[in-house]
Amino acid sequence: MSTEWTPDLTLNHDLLDPQHRGLFRLLRVAADAIELPGDALLVALNRFGEALVAHLAAEERIMVETLYPERLRHKTSHDMLVSDVLGVQQEIARAGPTASLVEIVRTRMPEWLRYHTRVNDVPLGEFLARNNPASASLDPVREGPPAKPN
Ligand SMILES: [Fe+2]
Repeated sequence: MSTEWTPDLTLNHDLLDPQHRGLFRLLRVAADAIELPGDALLVALNRFGEALVAHLAAEERIMVETLYPERLRHKTSHDMLVSDVLGVQQEIARAGPTASLVEIVRTRMPEWLRYHTRVNDVPLGEFLARNNPASASLDPVREGPPAKPN
């Protein structure tokens, strides 16, 4: 369950929400790859790592562009995650999927992503909605139905 994206993680942001859902999907693929032969797990973790780095860079660019007050603390959290993911990849490449590494991929990485999204990213989404409403998702309720042609 913890590898599933859930609606409480919504930022109401057109770029960041799909990226978050994609990261959870890639973590699920990695968790499923534990049972597959060969280097399937490492391939899946590499795909997750690449998507994560691209996503975090996008988030950090937005935080700088909007002068988000928590951007330095937020980036520190990103840097720690990237370091942890690289460490897990290197350990799996060296030692294979040991029980402790499997537990990290199945449980701790999704939990971290969930925690970070809820505690760090959701407030960022609220800040963006307050300060740059044009970047937030269109709210169909607030926007109302499309105008009828004459
Ligand atoms: Fe973040």
